[in-house]
Amino acid sequence: MRVLVTGGTGYIGSTAVDILITKGYEISILDDCTTGHADTAPAGVSFIQGSLLSAGDVAQALVGVDAVMHFAGKSLVGESVEKPDLYHQVNVDGSRNLLDQMHASGVTKLVFSSSAATYGEPEQVPILETAPTKPTNPYGATKLAIDQMITAEAESRGIAAASLRYFNVAGALKSSRGWLAERHNPETHLIPNVLRSTSDNPVKVFGTDWPTPDGTCIRDYVHVVDLIDAHIKALESLAPKIHEIYNLGSGDGYSVREVIAAASKSAGYQIPTLDSPRRAGDPAVLIADINKAKNKLGWVPTHGIEKMVADTLASIS
Ligand SMILES: NC(=O)c1ccc[n+]([C@@H]2O[C@H](COP(=O)([O-])OP(=O)(O)OC[C@H]3O[C@@H](n4cnc5c(N)ncnc54)[C@H](O)[C@@H]3O)[C@@H](O)[C@H]2O)c1
Repeated sequence: MRVLVTGGTGYIGSTAVDILITKGYEISILDDCTTGHADTAPAGVSFIQGSLLSAGDVAQALVGVDAVMHFAGKSLVGESVEKPDLYHQVNVDGSRNLLDQMHASGVTKLVFSSSAATYGEPEQVPILETAPTKPTNPYGATKLAIDQMITAEAESRGIAAASLRYFNVAGALKSSRGWLAERHNPETHLIPNVLRSTSDNPVKVFGTDWPTPDGTCIRDYVHVVDLIDAHIKALESLAPKIHEIYNLGSGDGYSVREVIAAASKSAGYQIPTLDSPRRAGDPAVLIADINKAKNKLGWVPTHGIEKMVADTLASIS
């Protein structure tokens, strides 16, 4: 089976490419490398350096393809507040173009990178897939709009699809070409920022008075290797005319201080931190209910926070 990986030179997409090849899939990549890195693309794969927004680029990338894993997009919450039109254009219009070109090419299988940001401030944790969707920023709104577009596409054109709503993705994978890891600029994710913290530029702990056991926010982290395992299980379970939505996390929460403690242990020194005021819009606790993915896909995440921290540390050392 040939899989088109959009965003296949980004952090998660490049990891998917590597694992899919190991499992025997043939790969095509479409990526404009705005936040990805062309050097992650393995020799021998079909790599179109082009845009999701170009009908021609997408049609070319779909030649000979049986299924699509759609990772390409813009994913910084803060940037989405500053540039909502850009986020709508790349994420929503780009996905519309992809769906139309898939239809024109007769490609009917899709696995999409959605996000926990579709839920917004949760009324209940752990968060179920049936929870209300009230995104609190333009990034989350674009992911929800794409999920809704895919549901309509399954109903009207009969595609087989899954949206995977990631919580916080972390860790890295050592490939034959070196580490596939987060190389975002700016980096907004906690674990790489904790591991790069210095006494001159300490990582900020946003809020120490949240209603949690140690006063810091609690989030759910999933290792990128476990995440891609879920993608492959979702791909293999797709059914025509059905759009399934699955939450992907570990089902456990870790506070910011617990992540810093795990990182300090792994690094062998106390990570410097700076207690700072709460950020507006941060919920106290975000934890996924992952029972649907466990029960319907037979997926079980196997890498804990220590492995996520250790792999990230190895990737940046
Ligand atoms: N990293 C996380 O914790 C997380 C959490 C939830 C959802 N997601 C989603 O997962 C996906 C991958 O995230 P990531 O962390 O690997 O981000 P990333 O920025 O590393 O990867 C995104 C890729 O998409 C490419 N891209 C962007 N615009 C494009 C366009 N117009 N045409 C073609 N390619 C384009 C970029 O060059 C990049 O390679 C994104 O859709 C993101 O919203 C990530």
